[in-house]
Amino acid sequence: MKFDIITIFPNIFDSYFNHGLIARGLKKKLIQIKTHNLRKWTIDKHKSVDDRPFGGGLGMVMKIEPIFEAVKAIKKNNSKVIFFTPRGKKFNQKIAWQLSKQKQLIFICGRYEGVDERVAEKIADLKLSIGDYVLMGGEVPTLVVIEAVSRLIPGIIAKEQLLQERTTKKKGYVEYPQYTRPEVFNPKKGVNWKVPKELISGNHERIRKWREKKSQTIEK
Ligand code: ADE
Repeated sequence: MKFDIITIFPNIFDSYFNHGLIARGLKKKLIQIKTHNLRKWTIDKHKSVDDRPFGGGLGMVMKIEPIFEAVKAIKKNNSKVIFFTPRGKKFNQKIAWQLSKQKQLIFICGRYEGVDERVAEKIADLKLSIGDYVLMGGEVPTLVVIEAVSRLIPGIIAKEQLLQERTTKKKGYVEYPQYTRPEVFNPKKGVNWKVPKELISGNHERIRKWREKKSQTIEK
């Protein structure tokens, strides 16, 4: 799986991808991530990625030409171009599973007040939103989607865990609550925060039933 990110802030991503399971996945070549500076595909001497909006109004709008050229240069057969907008389809676990089957995902990160709508209409294969709120750009949504999709790629997280999720994926499964030692935590005198008794019963059937009851679905 290859993730290509088109952005005017490629350095935002460096630190994040250098840690944890994503870093391990990169090292083991289970995933590939490449950030592309959009300015590389600008055509004027000022390397401008935005311009004033037709019809007037405040702020600037990101231009279509550099985005078009970037996608043209990066896109292979069989890839999906994703554009982030609060008006897009709401991202969820089911979409994460579908995307995890792709060979290449290309993310277009918008910035500023907007992006020429022809990017959404003509260039994007999929318009996604990560929630009903407005962010300042597509960089954080890109991280969200890469993280959710990467962990579904075989080898990134433990095989058993992924298998368990896959068998229940249609429901958008969320895990049962987990606890570890101490069995009773005393943050102050007279206060005892206990682990559910079922989990320390040693009775496998009782534990299984408790976990089943506590598992919730996250997809509506
Ligand atoms: N760009 C700005 N806000 C966004 C959101 N909520 N989801 C995806 N892209 C966005």
